[in-house]
Amino acid sequence: MTASDQSSANAMWGGRFAAGPDAIMTAINASIGFDQRMAAQDIAGSRAHAAMLAAQGIITDSDAEAIGQGLLTVLSEIEGGAFPFREDLEDIHMNVEARLKEIIGEPAGRLHTARSRNDQVAVDFRMWVRDQCDAAITGIEALLRAFVAQAEEGADWVMPGFTHLQTAQPVTWGHHMLAYAEMLGRDLSRFRDARARMNECPLGAAALAGTSFPIDRHATAKALGFDRPTANSLDSVADRDFALEFLSASAITAMHLSRFAEELVIWSSAQFRFVRLSDRWTTGSSIMPQKKNPDAAELLRAKIGRILGATVALFTVMKGLPLTYSKDMQEDKEQVFDAADTLMLCLAAMTGMVGDMQANTAELKRAAASGFSTATDLADWLVRELGLPFRDAHHVTGTLVARAEAKGCDLPDLTLADMQEVHAGIRADVFDVLGVDNSVRSRQSYGGTAPDQVRAQVARWKDILR
Ligand code: ARG
Repeated sequence: MTASDQSSANAMWGGRFAAGPDAIMTAINASIGFDQRMAAQDIAGSRAHAAMLAAQGIITDSDAEAIGQGLLTVLSEIEGGAFPFREDLEDIHMNVEARLKEIIGEPAGRLHTARSRNDQVAVDFRMWVRDQCDAAITGIEALLRAFVAQAEEGADWVMPGFTHLQTAQPVTWGHHMLAYAEMLGRDLSRFRDARARMNECPLGAAALAGTSFPIDRHATAKALGFDRPTANSLDSVADRDFALEFLSASAITAMHLSRFAEELVIWSSAQFRFVRLSDRWTTGSSIMPQKKNPDAAELLRAKIGRILGATVALFTVMKGLPLTYSKDMQEDKEQVFDAADTLMLCLAAMTGMVGDMQANTAELKRAAASGFSTATDLADWLVRELGLPFRDAHHVTGTLVARAEAKGCDLPDLTLADMQEVHAGIRADVFDVLGVDNSVRSRQSYGGTAPDQVRAQVARWKDILR
């Protein structure tokens, strides 16, 4: 077989092969159907590599110039939708290189000096995931702003706080909103940490062992926005922990979104009526005219399934793989692409919903005052004012709750005589602590639900987000 017969096998490695692959082999082997999403990263990586090769005297300046220009042409073809992607060329790396050869001819063959698809895919994918970390950070910041705005507006709106989804104690709307701000703040820091850790450049690891050419890995790392080159060539082509960190951080964020989504579903129901979701985030029913369904919230509640599924899938692909690269690792991308798309959509939808949602303050307050929500305030009063041990105060309060329940009323509706029958020392000023406004105002401990505390935390968040 002469070099010109290569088309019967493969243009990139035809020398060793007498026949081409089976059609089904081509189908299972090709990644071009999805890895074309990394075209911009692939071309940026190749341009940096070619420029470095020339600077190091490994290829001529004129070849590097032709390669750099040709790659820009390829990029514009891809961006313009005119690029002829070929499945027989397997992946984005070989599609780009083959097209480059059609455009500039012989110098294209010099681009792959001191490089392998193993370090090429590693650098492309890292850059792609790094961009998604940035997008996640921007998306989370926007959602944080929406929660903080809600918190600022409703710093002193009283609502029931729940444990076990049973009324527990009155809290403030602002406090509840800021609970999500705290979660999202940690999500933000997870993406920032992951981004900082992944920002090392694997390019130049070549197939696995490094290269005998005098390359400058610091130069390519810098050109591609990395902090430094990776320090071990085997690790560089073998690991995908950066993608796992991105997925893990995404799964945690999606879990947080899912929890608020669930609250929105409950809160917007006719039984709760805590919030009104705007028409922009709800749908009607084709048969029941009264319905306004919280579809976006329900979908947000569900999307964690996809993202966590992607996380589990990639862990499963990577576990037990011997060093270094194995083709298994081509299965790293689709899951991450889908998880990233899903996360960005979820963040945008939640930001819109939180921005638009309107609290029903009257209903929140009514609900906050029911269900003996100030029983703990009563027990605390007995400790503070009458010097009872907390356990005894708990017992007295429990007796009073049972009495109210038997009378079909709430704690503040009991008479002083009712109370004194249970404990003679109780005075009329006990009623001050049984109101929900006083209850929340009294929770002044750092991080507590008192409006003053909420306002202080809102100020802190606004500072952070400035
Ligand atoms: N398409 C491949 C992937 O996604 C690129 C690396 C191929 N390397 C190899 N030695 N076959 O992993």
